[in-house]
Amino acid sequence: MISTEAFAKVNLTLEVYGVRGDGYHALRSVVAPISLSDTVEVSPADGISCDTGFADDLCVKAAGALLRRDPSARGPLGASIHVVKRIPVGGGLGGGSADAAAVLRALNGMWGLELSPEELADVGADVGSDVPALVMAQHYRTSVVMEGRGETVSLVPLGARRRPPLELVLVNPGVHTSTREVYARSGARSAEGPSATDECLAAMESGEIGRIARSLANDLEGAAQSLHPEISAAMDALRAEGALGVAMSGSGSSAFGLVETRARAQEMALSLRGRGLRAWAVHTLAQNLV
Ligand code: C5P
Repeated sequence: MISTEAFAKVNLTLEVYGVRGDGYHALRSVVAPISLSDTVEVSPADGISCDTGFADDLCVKAAGALLRRDPSARGPLGASIHVVKRIPVGGGLGGGSADAAAVLRALNGMWGLELSPEELADVGADVGSDVPALVMAQHYRTSVVMEGRGETVSLVPLGARRRPPLELVLVNPGVHTSTREVYARSGARSAEGPSATDECLAAMESGEIGRIARSLANDLEGAAQSLHPEISAAMDALRAEGALGVAMSGSGSSAFGLVETRARAQEMALSLRGRGLRAWAVHTLAQNLV
């Protein structure tokens, strides 16, 4: 049996640049893996099975995509996939995609395929838009920049990777956003204007917490908030508690606030829970060695 942590993500930025020919939106996003994870366990078996119970299971899709990629692999390949869920479902934290990314990484080991993280990310693009970013972010334990529909992924610059983790408070308002609907309602920013992603990367390299806080941006916020006012309420609660910067993650519904220290994040999460909100103190993964 191989056990892998499927780290969730937040989008520090998410810029939408309009609809492409294939119907997907062109994006630029800083995707930060965080210290909230599901655990994915794979064991040898006949055929592919997974116990998440979702009809549209990304874990099974990931295993299928990997089989298609390497049909010549030795012997009959199968896997039984078990997921210990902790990441809220439908919350913009990439839970399903994180599980799929972990399945790709674990099966690559169990089946002896020896694909590189970059090759696995490529396989992941057939599974879901966030999967390539999460394969890379989980493997290198660092933030990545996602572009195109999600298929183009690069690590954040070395200067940013050397910085300590960012301390965050997550709030999940408990409503499920439809990614498709939120994208369909979103506007597009002009390619001419300043890039929030470039500013965020520069801020991360500078290490100035206030500048990073000001650079947080998500072009899907307005569309998601108009569908679910609970998201605005969660963001207001984080601001009222004194978060330095607040944004929504992905297509929602989770929001997060950036704070100065881990102690402050824990204190704020407790206080928000006291007000009946689902809140967690988390930090970004910052592996300084790659
Ligand atoms: O790729 P994934 O299945 O995660 O995407 C879910 C939906 O989100 C897509 O069907 C599409 O409507 C929307 N989407 C998009 N542009 C992206 C990613 C997702 O329009 N870059």
